[in-house]
Amino acid sequence: MAKINESNTFLAQKKMSDEVKADLAIHPEKYTMLTGDRPTGRLHLGHFFGTLKSRVELQDAGIRTRIIIADYQVITDRDTTDNIADNVLNLVIDYLACGIDPEKTIIFTHSSIPALNQLMLPFLSLVTESELLRNPTVKAEKDASGHPLTGLLLTYPVHQACDILFCKGNIVPVGKDQLPHIEQTRQIARRFNERYAHVFPEPVGLLTDSVEIPGLDGRKMSKSYGNAISLGATEEETAKLIKKSKTDSERLITYDPEARPGVSALLTTASLMCDKTEEEIAAEIGDAGSGALKAFVTETVNSYLAPIRERRRELERDLPYIHDVLAEGNRRATDIAETTLNEVREAMGMIY
Ligand code: TRP
Repeated sequence: MAKINESNTFLAQKKMSDEVKADLAIHPEKYTMLTGDRPTGRLHLGHFFGTLKSRVELQDAGIRTRIIIADYQVITDRDTTDNIADNVLNLVIDYLACGIDPEKTIIFTHSSIPALNQLMLPFLSLVTESELLRNPTVKAEKDASGHPLTGLLLTYPVHQACDILFCKGNIVPVGKDQLPHIEQTRQIARRFNERYAHVFPEPVGLLTDSVEIPGLDGRKMSKSYGNAISLGATEEETAKLIKKSKTDSERLITYDPEARPGVSALLTTASLMCDKTEEEIAAEIGDAGSGALKAFVTETVNSYLAPIRERRRELERDLPYIHDVLAEGNRRATDIAETTLNEVREAMGMIY
């Protein structure tokens, strides 16, 4: 029964996502997009094709865009904030290098927006312990962390609802694994509106239809697997990583993700960047072997990333500018959060 309910929810969410996608180009002014990242390391090609590219497209289509750097979420499942400032600044650099325009998009951090965090108190009163405990993503993250479940990890979907609702975000680009959080956010908005007064929209998760770029070994691209090409890596680092990726000794290159995960991951990587299918690239390489394939992929990745990396290097040399972008984003987000918090106080009769 639970399974059936879950898939019904998925279908309903997919349907809403499709409807919104069709409407985006016609009525961009109706939409506020909120999305974000944890500042735990550098962004890589998986992030670029999975979400960064579409964020830039949404921004350029005239949709209001907001990006949260979720610094408080870093301590949901780890007990240190080492390198956090450096990670935050590098996220901003990655965003700008990829085409996020700070004039259009507000970039900000959790820890700088007290009014956003204060929404957590009324919102926590709208969810039950069992709803929190059955969130599958929270369970998976707890198991992966190897740590006991902290109160912050248990309640971070509610914190994420604060991120989305403080700016009345109504679209959130997400992968499938984040859908339970969107459902929880919709529930919080609905319960608040019913209990007090209509303040919040019920946001829709925009399911990304981009191909998931595999890591160099065919598994999901992730820094922790050592199979990720980060946007800021040098050309030499990129070449080295691709060179040591695991392929096989069969000289004829073919696309077969099941039997040849390494070779196929390389083909997919190149195909995303050169307008050719995996099969076309494989046919071009023919029986020249993995060495030739790796040389081709290295060349393709490095030339695709060249303009992003060049812009990245320029930005790295101008840290005061990066700090300014963040300060301005935090200032704008604070204004929005305070306005919303005042509406919440009013709805709850807490104006004294
Ligand atoms: N939890 C997201 C991640 O781990 C980051 C995030 C924080 C987020 N707040 C958000 C994403 C709100 C979407 C909406 O990547």
